[in-house]
Amino acid sequence: MAAPAVPEFLYGTAWKEDRTAALTEQALRAGFRGIDTANQRRHYVEAGVGEALAAASRAGSVTRADVFLQTKFTYRGGQDHRLPYDPAAPVATQVAQSMASSLEHLGTDHVDSYVLHGPASGQGWSAADVEAWAAMIRERDLGRTRWLGVSNVSLRHLHQLQASGHELPAFVQNRCFARTGWDRNIRLFCAEHQVVYQGFSLLTANPAVLHHPYVAGLATRANATPAQVVFAFSRRLGMLPLTGTSDAGHMREDLASDIVRLSLEEVRALESLTG
Ligand SMILES: NC(=O)c1ccc[n+]([C@@H]2O[C@H](COP(=O)([O-])OP(=O)(O)OC[C@H]3O[C@@H](n4cnc5c(N)ncnc54)[C@H](OP(=O)(O)O)[C@@H]3O)[C@@H](O)[C@H]2O)c1
Repeated sequence: MAAPAVPEFLYGTAWKEDRTAALTEQALRAGFRGIDTANQRRHYVEAGVGEALAAASRAGSVTRADVFLQTKFTYRGGQDHRLPYDPAAPVATQVAQSMASSLEHLGTDHVDSYVLHGPASGQGWSAADVEAWAAMIRERDLGRTRWLGVSNVSLRHLHQLQASGHELPAFVQNRCFARTGWDRNIRLFCAEHQVVYQGFSLLTANPAVLHHPYVAGLATRANATPAQVVFAFSRRLGMLPLTGTSDAGHMREDLASDIVRLSLEEVRALESLTG
């Protein structure tokens, strides 16, 4: 099985509708080697990602083996009427059907990461989650994904998943708010258990940070933009950041955010910026 490394940045394909294929191709041309999608037609066009991969492969620029490909299983509650599974089937069957549909959309026999888009309840790791997670582990054991992840989780979800006796995910993907210390509790849990933390909405969830004079000062010093400072900071914290930019210039800037060098003191100062 092809084994691309986990890249340092993920290109997110949400909300791109009929521009999904073209923007994903552009992201691959810009140098992204990690793509995030979901089998949730409400917010993603997973088949567009497959089209982009096929086009890049035909052009000889990027092959499937070069790309870390991540998709998600989304419960009925997070979907609209365009479902990739039979809603009357048990959750475990829905997971298998959704995975089969993802592989068809993406034109591949396996993904690199398969993520539970969100737990069934905000209150805790429920029986449905236990069933879905066991089914996802089965998909992994059958070789259809290399790794597993969970998204939109609280510390309580992770503790209860741990207590259920099942293995922990390789990835946690969460919206990252500065006001929670950039999801500090979850990041600490991840660091303690060798889980890679994927942060999304790093820019859109934190507008006050982007406009903060301290960030502006760091950006000026590095001849960079405040967005690059935030991405550089997230990478220094050990996060795997996502960007869903539709702008070719921003694609290049986001990938080049490591031009911003931050001292430990600056990282600590940014970590405590509550926006
Ligand atoms: N698991 C989940 O539930 C979940 C939820 C939401 C998102 N996601 C994933 O995360 C991905 C990213 O989503 P996101 O919420 O972070 O939002 P996003 O779609 O990445 O939006 C980022 C915003 O920041 C701007 N931007 C990006 N780079 C910039 C730069 N260098 N300078 C200035 N502006 C810049 C973009 O504008 P331009 O387009 O003009 O650059 C856009 O308005 C999604 O596509 C999806 O794959 C997952």
